[in-house]
Amino acid sequence: MEKLASLSIDELLRLKEEYKKEYEDFKALGLKLDMSRGKPSNEQLNLTNPMLDIMGSDVDFVGEANMDYRNYGILNGIPEARRFLGEILDMDEKNIIAGGNSSLTMMFDTVSQGMTMGFGEGPWMLNEENIFLCPVPGYDRHFKITEYFGIRMIPIEMTPDGPDMDEVERYVNNDKRVKGIWCVPMYSNPQGLTYSDETVRRFAALKPAAKDFRIFWDDAYCAHHFRTKKDTLLSLYDECVKMGSEDMVFMFMSTSKISFPGAGIAAMAASENNIKMLNSRMNIQSISPDKLNQLRHVRFFKDLAGVEAHMEKMATFIKPRFKIVMEKLKTLDGMDIIFYSEPRGGYFISVDTLEGCAKRVCQLCKDAGLVLTSAGSTYPYGIDPKDRNIRIAPTYPTCDELSKAMELFCVCVKLASVEKLLK
Ligand SMILES: Cc1ncc(COP(=O)(O)O)c(C=O)c1O
Repeated sequence: MEKLASLSIDELLRLKEEYKKEYEDFKALGLKLDMSRGKPSNEQLNLTNPMLDIMGSDVDFVGEANMDYRNYGILNGIPEARRFLGEILDMDEKNIIAGGNSSLTMMFDTVSQGMTMGFGEGPWMLNEENIFLCPVPGYDRHFKITEYFGIRMIPIEMTPDGPDMDEVERYVNNDKRVKGIWCVPMYSNPQGLTYSDETVRRFAALKPAAKDFRIFWDDAYCAHHFRTKKDTLLSLYDECVKMGSEDMVFMFMSTSKISFPGAGIAAMAASENNIKMLNSRMNIQSISPDKLNQLRHVRFFKDLAGVEAHMEKMATFIKPRFKIVMEKLKTLDGMDIIFYSEPRGGYFISVDTLEGCAKRVCQLCKDAGLVLTSAGSTYPYGIDPKDRNIRIAPTYPTCDELSKAMELFCVCVKLASVEKLLK
């Protein structure tokens, strides 16, 4: 197919009619599909079901800490879980807090602690203005946290190597109001990009104008490879230790998309100074995390090798779905109406339409029964200034449903693009 923009008005008008007809045919199918969030499919979830049987009533609940894990205690998580999560994050267990069921909660709490108590430089909320840098497109729920706390968000463009580090350095090293940056460094949400070694080193070498600046390093997809050729991520913490900047980093992850979303274990990793500071809040907030959930995870997965073997099984369900999305998107190649990422892991594919078309595409899809993550949500305040970006979350539907959904999506992209060109 040739470039749409090079066609005459008559040809575009003819195509518009053709795409409209195709679209109406889809509408008549009465699809009912929700692809708005990155949820694992039932087959993926089933892989972890045996974990639920591991803790029979006759199982010994006394763990390495030589205490009964059914009872209160051990605020930073059981040693077995800290070691296990440390292995996944490539961190020493002494730097790990094994928490509850959600890393997002830990991120929220950490920003909340910055606002109310601060990180050694007084509460952020006493400042006239606080700023977070937000690589875009990015994860909507990160942006919602900073929006909730009234922190101003500045978008930073993503490049194939990660966030535009010239911009990051310019802001962080010169502006005291800049208190943080959201990062999903591996198989990023939504582009599936992994930061290059150079980017990680430049992060570690930042010289923040604000002493209480923190990098919020959300390694949510560190174990989520689905190709034989895996992306690799340099250890930010090790690079920071070399630069003496390890207090600048808070790392987060969870097993939400390894075991069960909402019923996994979440973790934070940080320097000893930072852990001490975080504990001062946690001591008030809680008496104990869910140690039994931590124990059953460790008993089920055992170690990093166990997680890797499990994720290879997961990949057998995820890979075909990404393949379907790619095959369908490729049918639009040559028309010059979309640009899309081709990840080797993670949960999402990022699609950029022609300017001003993303909202229209999502609306068309919705009217035909396919709910996508709303256009704009990959940007701070839900505003994509060019109205281009759409996040595709392919894991939940069956392959047949996904095929139909992507065919519909492609028709909607074509229709919205023709409409735009005719304007
Ligand atoms: C980048 C990222 N971080 C965190 C989460 C949520 O993590 P949790 O379930 O641990 O709160 C998600 C879920 O989609 C995510 O994409």
